[in-house]
Amino acid sequence: METERSLQRVREIDAGSYRVTVGAGLRHRFARAIADAAPAHHYAIVSDDAVAPLYAEPLVLALAAHAPVSVHVVPSGEAHKTRDTWARVTDGMLDAGCGRDTTVVALGGGVVGDLAGFCAAVYQRGVRVVQIPTTLVAQVDSAYGGKTGVDLPQGKNYAGVYHQPAAVIADPRALRTLPEEELAAGWAEVIKTALIAGGPLWKRVRSHAVEADRDLVLACARTKLAVVAADERDAGARQSLNLGHTVGHAIETATGYRRYRHGEAVGLGLLAALTLSAQPALREEVAGLLAEHGLPTRLDPTIDPADVVAATARDKKRRGGRVGFVLVEAPGDVRTGMAVSPDDLRAAVAELERS
Ligand SMILES: NC(=O)c1ccc[n+]([C@@H]2O[C@H](COP(=O)([O-])OP(=O)(O)OC[C@H]3O[C@@H](n4cnc5c(N)ncnc54)[C@H](O)[C@@H]3O)[C@@H](O)[C@H]2O)c1
Repeated sequence: METERSLQRVREIDAGSYRVTVGAGLRHRFARAIADAAPAHHYAIVSDDAVAPLYAEPLVLALAAHAPVSVHVVPSGEAHKTRDTWARVTDGMLDAGCGRDTTVVALGGGVVGDLAGFCAAVYQRGVRVVQIPTTLVAQVDSAYGGKTGVDLPQGKNYAGVYHQPAAVIADPRALRTLPEEELAAGWAEVIKTALIAGGPLWKRVRSHAVEADRDLVLACARTKLAVVAADERDAGARQSLNLGHTVGHAIETATGYRRYRHGEAVGLGLLAALTLSAQPALREEVAGLLAEHGLPTRLDPTIDPADVVAATARDKKRRGGRVGFVLVEAPGDVRTGMAVSPDDLRAAVAELERS
C-alpha cells in the first residue's frame, strides 16, 4: 500500500520495502534520510567525475557526522559501466575497510546507479544501497525497481542482479546542472512513462507546459513502482516498462552505441512502437512532444532498417526465441509480449527514416 505525506518541501512515497523522497536538500536532510534508512558503520559514496565535483562534498561532510565515509569516483559515461570499473570500485571499498555493515550511496545518473547497485549487491554477499539520482533518466526511472548491473562487450546490462535500494532520495534541483542533451534524453523516459500511466500524468505531459519538477518526478516514480510491485523480476507486467526499448536498443546496437544517446534511441523506438500499434494520431502527437524536448524524430537515413531488424532479433529480453513487443492500445493501456512480423517491423523502422 502506498502512503504519501507532505513535508515542507519534500514529498515521500512509501514503496513497501523502501521510501522514495523527492525534494530539496542534498546536504543535511539527505544525510539524515540515508542514515535513517540504512544505518551503517561506513558509507561508500560511488559517483562519477562529472557529478562528484558538484555534489559529493556537502554529502560527505554531512554523512561524516554518522559514520566514516569513503568516496569512489569513476569516469563518467556508459563506456565505463563495465566489469573493470566494478572491480576497481569494490577493490577501493576493500582498501577503505568497508565491511558488511557498509552502505553504498550511489550519487549520479543511471550509469552510477546501476554500477553502484551492482557493487552493493555482490560486495561481501550484499550490502545496502541508497540511490541518489542526479539525472532526469535516473530520477524518473532507473533509480527505482532494483535492476543493477554492468555492460559486457557483447551487450548492455548483460551482467547484473536485482538489488532493491534501501531508499531513493532525489533532488530535482540537481537537474539544473545537467547538460541540455542529457535532460532531453530524460524526457524520452518521461513520455514513455506517461504513455504507460495514462490519466493525469499523460494529461500533464501532453499539456506542453510541463517541467521536470518534484511532482513530475513523483508521478513517474509512482508509475514505475506500481509496475515493479506487480512483477519485480520481469516475468510479465514489468515488461511494459520496455515500451520503445526493443527498437531503441536495436538502433543503439546497429549504430555501435555512437550515433544516438540511449534516450534519443528510446524516443525513436517509441515512434516505431506506435506505428506497430497502428496509432497514427498518437504517433504524431508523441513525435511533437519528442521534438519539443529536443529529441530526434527521424532516423538517420544512412542506417539500413535491415540492420535494426537484425539487432532486434538478438534482444536479450526474447523468450523462447521470440521477441515480445510492447504495444499501445491507448495511453494507460499497453500490451506486452505482442508478436510482430519482420515485415511490419521493417516497415515501422523504414517509416522512421521518412517521418
Ligand atoms: N536500472 C534500471 O532500471 C535502468 C532503467 C533505465 C536506464 N538504466 C541505465 O541508466 C543508464 C543511463 O543513465 P543516464 O541517462 O542517467 O546517464 P549517465 O549516468 O551516463 O548520466 C549522463 C551524463 O550526465 C552527467 N551527470 C549526471 N548528473 C548530473 C548533474 N546533476 N549535473 C551535471 N552532470 C550530470 C553524468 O556524468 C553523465 O556524463 C544506462 O546505463 C541505462 O542502462 C537503468
